[in-house]
Amino acid sequence: MYLFFTDTNKDLAKKVVRLTGLKLGQVEFKKFSDGEIYARIKNKVRGEKVFVLGSTFSPADNILQLLILMSALKSNKAKNIVLIISYFGYARQDWLSKPGEPLTAKLMADLLRAAGVGRIITFDLHSKAVKNFFKIPVRELAALPLFAEYFKKKQLNNFKVVAPDVGALVKARRLSKFLGSGPPVVLKKIRPRHNVARVAQVKDGVKDKNLILIDDMIDTAGTITAAVAVLKKQGARDIYIAATHPVLSGPAIERLKKSSIKEVITTNTIPLPKEKHLKKIKVLSVAELISKELVNFKYNIQRRAL
Ligand code: R5P
Repeated sequence: MYLFFTDTNKDLAKKVVRLTGLKLGQVEFKKFSDGEIYARIKNKVRGEKVFVLGSTFSPADNILQLLILMSALKSNKAKNIVLIISYFGYARQDWLSKPGEPLTAKLMADLLRAAGVGRIITFDLHSKAVKNFFKIPVRELAALPLFAEYFKKKQLNNFKVVAPDVGALVKARRLSKFLGSGPPVVLKKIRPRHNVARVAQVKDGVKDKNLILIDDMIDTAGTITAAVAVLKKQGARDIYIAATHPVLSGPAIERLKKSSIKEVITTNTIPLPKEKHLKKIKVLSVAELISKELVNFKYNIQRRAL
């Protein structure tokens, strides 16, 4: 069975192949002079179940490349396409907050379905609502087990888990439970406008505590740096961030550099380009979570020893 991948997930695809025994699918991607994407599959996929690994972070060409790859698989009569979409972009518009807005999360679901996807495996979606836009099975995996193991090994003492907003509360509760650190602290976040985050003071005592702030993604890093500033003001000690998707757009890297965050723990659902490598950023791999999932779903793949 083949695992095809788009340019966004080359390294992750190689890791998954090593762990599962799937074969790497061969695709030629090229661009026409005007930027239009060309794809040609080099393997025979007629009647086969195939896997595709991709990620839909910016630019939008990443989405198009993924759709075009699936369209090529469909035209070549692949029987069943299972898409592993490590970061599901365009998901934040999942409800109509103002008249005149679109539901981009639904649009993405419709596009993927139209391109021929039969089943989706993804990580830490922006919200519960996103899954409901799909008419095909969606399995949402969590990076939380990776963070839990990481912090267990670190053996922090006198620490609490923090949710930077109510949206992160379920994750914060799960991590607290796993690490045995008692109820998490929840911050109150407001967004006066897109990409701007204000975090209110917290009532719960964080003074002299080490803190682990958990979230689904770091985009502009506005949320976490505002939260860290408030928590530090209230006497917090070392602050660690655990966030699944390193979107890291716009001012994010500069903000992280300047902030007093001790460590940022993230994953390779989005590859980190060289210019975004910072000493305080640690990247954990989701490859094993994906390969376990493929085996658990009884895709007839034997997991190889690590
Ligand atoms: C909230 O809606 C999300 O869980 C993240 O907190 C948010 O997307 C992070 O964005 P930024 O880093 O730009 O504040």
